[in-house]
Amino acid sequence: MGTLNNRKVAVIGCGFVGAASAFAIMESGLFSEMVLIDMNHDKAEGEALDISHGLPFSKPMQIYAGDYKDISDAAVIVVTAGAGQKPGETRLDLVKKNVSIFKSIIPQISEVNKDAIMLIVANPVDILTYTAWKLSGYPENRVFGSGTTLDTARLKYLLGQHLDVDSRSVHAFIVGEHGDSEIAVWSSANVSGIPINRFCEMRGHFHHEEAMQRIAEDVKNSAYEIINKKGATYYGIAMSVRRILEAIIRDEKTILPISSIQHDNHGVSGIAFSMPAIVGKNGVEATVPISLSQEEEKALKESASTLQKVIDDVF
Ligand code: LAC
Repeated sequence: MGTLNNRKVAVIGCGFVGAASAFAIMESGLFSEMVLIDMNHDKAEGEALDISHGLPFSKPMQIYAGDYKDISDAAVIVVTAGAGQKPGETRLDLVKKNVSIFKSIIPQISEVNKDAIMLIVANPVDILTYTAWKLSGYPENRVFGSGTTLDTARLKYLLGQHLDVDSRSVHAFIVGEHGDSEIAVWSSANVSGIPINRFCEMRGHFHHEEAMQRIAEDVKNSAYEIINKKGATYYGIAMSVRRILEAIIRDEKTILPISSIQHDNHGVSGIAFSMPAIVGKNGVEATVPISLSQEEEKALKESASTLQKVIDDVF
């Protein structure tokens, strides 16, 4: 990986998610250089120019459209390239199309850069993280996906709204697939250390089962709802990307539910899905074996087998 004083990031794919991520990355001030790559070079150039023109309102950095030779010294490479969900499509419906796109781009990345941290964002992110790991030859700690980082933020946001508290004081995780089989971990959810049900009662809510089911469903269906309304999601995921890159570049050792290759985590091994992990300058430094209720454990195994079946199909 480029040394930490190498503040260069690459974004592969300049569609809705890639462009929004590039904007969020610029706003973060974490990097001094950002190269944008897209098969439509004009699109990459347009995004680079558009963001660069605002730099006098932000901080100086070099932002330009390039190609794979320009990413040889990038410290972090964000991969958003791939088709996005259309209304009614699941993330897993994208697997064939996007695995074939990855078969073309991932080798081009690892050919020129064997030291970066690779953050996979395209969907289905768990399958594509596994694909990027397989195709790149990168060690497991340096190729991981955004996973359920955004789902977890959605859970915190909805709980913050429900309880009328700052969503940053809500501590709860979505784990497993970034998709329809994801799991809300209610058994350890809390608000500043107060178990969630107790805090709900403090705020006048007593129908816990109904509220938890509704909120977990709303989280799971957020992307479908937004895609139906505006055609795609991109700001929430771009802010998730920014948060993950911040943890890497500042070596924060933040615990985030990113998607990484699992090793006997709740009995799951060899596939990528989201569990809380410590993220710092070396990428995934360790996974955190969050405790789960029996019900959550069962749902996690179902999520893992959903993903394993897709991997068995594709590879
Ligand atoms: C979403 C996309 C990033 O959940 O999968 O908005």
